[in-house]
Amino acid sequence: MEKIDWNNLKFGYIPTDYNVRCHYANGEWSDIEETRDEMIPIHMAASCLHYGQEAFEGLKAFRCPDGKVRIFRMEDNAKRLQSTCRALVMPEISTERFCEMAKRVVKLNAKFIPPYESGAALYLRPLLIGTTPDVGVKPAKEYSFIIFVTPVGPYFKGGFAANNYVIMRQYDRAAPLGTGRYKCAGNYAGSLLAGKIAHEAGYAGEFYLDAKEKKYIDECGAANFFGIKNNTYVTPNSLSILPSITNKSLQQIALDLGLKVEQREVPEEELATFEEAGACGTAAVISPINRIDDMERGLSYQISKDGKPGPICKKLYDTYRNIQYGIEPDRYGWVTVLDITEE
Ligand SMILES: Cc1ncc(COP(=O)(O)O)c(C=O)c1O
Repeated sequence: MEKIDWNNLKFGYIPTDYNVRCHYANGEWSDIEETRDEMIPIHMAASCLHYGQEAFEGLKAFRCPDGKVRIFRMEDNAKRLQSTCRALVMPEISTERFCEMAKRVVKLNAKFIPPYESGAALYLRPLLIGTTPDVGVKPAKEYSFIIFVTPVGPYFKGGFAANNYVIMRQYDRAAPLGTGRYKCAGNYAGSLLAGKIAHEAGYAGEFYLDAKEKKYIDECGAANFFGIKNNTYVTPNSLSILPSITNKSLQQIALDLGLKVEQREVPEEELATFEEAGACGTAAVISPINRIDDMERGLSYQISKDGKPGPICKKLYDTYRNIQYGIEPDRYGWVTVLDITEE
């Protein structure tokens, strides 16, 4: 294994030793395989390549100060994958199989779990693809489910910082009754152009409004949005956003910290009233928001008063990270502890 510079990892791809796989044919899933092969043999007519029959997930495992390894909320990722499977007419992976494969792939690649001090983590990427050769638009008969892992760096290199975002009125990420609430490849391909335009204009990411009325905040790139005001955590309720596991966890932590939680429509104009706001997801936990611009309407919502993350975002972030690292009690059974002490 080449020496890994744990302190300078990006959110990219570094090869590890093993990935785990299973295959679906004739109505059943095969035994789980462990392989060193990074390639997937795939037919050029496979349904995932043409019609996007693909579902994926993203979760993390952490090396903790007590020497143990913890995987965060993997049952929730299993359940979300099942809901994507139902929407894309793909066979479901049971929670039991998903968790067994997740634990196994982390253990097999224990030496790639970054040290606690680096702030980095082992990212797990489960993916499910339809593999049947067919040019007809219909669900595949065969599928492969794979979980690979790769070490990824902390999102904030220079520490927790607040960023600027831009509302994209000329693009929608997903339609209200479309696939926005599922984690499938097409949603991300469809968001790349808006993301590119936002980044080229110097923003950390793009905001989407609801596609039907263009009135309410939907999502913030590949993250959910929340705002804080009057001791309340406010987050959009929309059919076209991905149900973020980070957001769900932050809502619980907010309640535990004595905040109120409101999940409801958030009109764009309400942005002017938030004392703090953030984008949330597995990659960053919370990416605090400094300012949100609506270029077409010439509006700018300055959220942070001093350009820095607010105290409630900081408290939510710290509590969340401490639960992931086993520093604060896991009151809701979110973490799975793996006993891997050896390097
Ligand atoms: C579109 C989108 N929204 C929100 C999220 C955040 O979800 P989670 O907190 O489960 O990572 C993600 C990332 O997974 C995403 O891709």
